[in-house]
Amino acid sequence: SRSVRLAVIPGDGIGPEVVAEGLKVLDAVSPSSGLTFERTSYDLGAARWHRTGETLPDAVLDELRQQEVILLGAVGDPTVPSGTLERGLLLRARFELDHYVNLRPVKLFPGVSTPLAGVTTDDIDMVVIREGTEGPYTGVGGVVRKGTQHEVATQESVNTAYGVERVIRYAFEVAAGRPRKHLTLVHKDNVLTFAGDLYQRTLKQVGEEYPQVTTAYCHVDAATMFFVSQPQRFDTIVTDNLFGDIITDLGAAVAGGIGLAASGNVNPDRTAPSMFEPVHGSAPDIAGQGKADPTATILSVAMLLDHIGAADAARRVERAVSDDLAERAAVGERSTTQIGDAIAKRVSG
Ligand code: NAD
Ligand code: IPM
Ligand code: MN
Repeated sequence: SRSVRLAVIPGDGIGPEVVAEGLKVLDAVSPSSGLTFERTSYDLGAARWHRTGETLPDAVLDELRQQEVILLGAVGDPTVPSGTLERGLLLRARFELDHYVNLRPVKLFPGVSTPLAGVTTDDIDMVVIREGTEGPYTGVGGVVRKGTQHEVATQESVNTAYGVERVIRYAFEVAAGRPRKHLTLVHKDNVLTFAGDLYQRTLKQVGEEYPQVTTAYCHVDAATMFFVSQPQRFDTIVTDNLFGDIITDLGAAVAGGIGLAASGNVNPDRTAPSMFEPVHGSAPDIAGQGKADPTATILSVAMLLDHIGAADAARRVERAVSDDLAERAAVGERSTTQIGDAIAKRVSG
């Protein structure tokens, strides 16, 4: 059996609750898939920060680099200044491990209710490829005359030809592998003229190598409208880091809720481990109550399995989730563990 080094970062709030269920399902699918996971858990997050002031120490980062893949719950806590853990832990990991593709499927599963009227599963089936290492997320900028009436806060968007090219190329690859072979660039090139133009020119250039893929452009504001009014417009989307963050929460909402939205922070060149996590955050409003839906994390485990080449195991997990979702309306409210148990049971056969 193949041994896989897996780092686990449960994190804050509902993070540990949903990760426990993700691991339960991973344990259920592993034996028959010929996989064993050598798991190392890292106590990063709010508690660590309160204890030591550390978010993601260099030594831990070096250890993470030695792993094959990472599963993360969520980070962020009301007792920690906003941005401390988000930047110091989560974004630091994404940047240092070169997760330039933030892969976020938006897919309506059969039997799942969407707030959109008259929409079927065929209408909401897209993959958002969110750039993960650039844009307004780099931390370039600063503040002067802080706290005065003349304070100026600058937060720059950094977009490199290298960074834009590699994420757009990945998006073409994804689009080319999907039935519709349609790629939409979502940006705001009517206002963010420098970055938008770089994305547009790169789309055109790289697109010449993918004549089988049709392309379209949509301003991000209009894209939010179309996510709600005509989601079938979209197949594969490539977009900037911040726009991708925003539209994937909207995507989660139209595809049945944030509790179902999975993601992968992918390093396609495999120079460092990729990191899989639900799209949602630490949900302090429901933490510790057994109310969190672990499905997003379990679907992130399926993406993790795909990434390590265990496609059969990934499909089994997806099928178990899909079957569970199809029957959810009938079974009524369940706790985090009950959902995890039910899906793990389906996976074990
Ligand atoms: P959030 O995603 O944590 O919560 C938004 C709403 O969705 C809340 O009402 C929450 O209860 C609900 N929700 C989230 N996940 C759910 C689940 N699995 N099941 C059921 N309901 C769920 O977003 P927020 O409230 O904006 O942020 C809370 C904290 O999480 C902040 O500190 C934020 O910075 C952090 N955050 C972290 C990540 C991450 O680690 N990737 C992502 C987003 C937000
Ligand atoms: C997400 C989150 C993060 C992001 C935050 C917590 C840094 O919202 O994973 O979607 O903005 O990328
Ligand atoms: Mn987000």
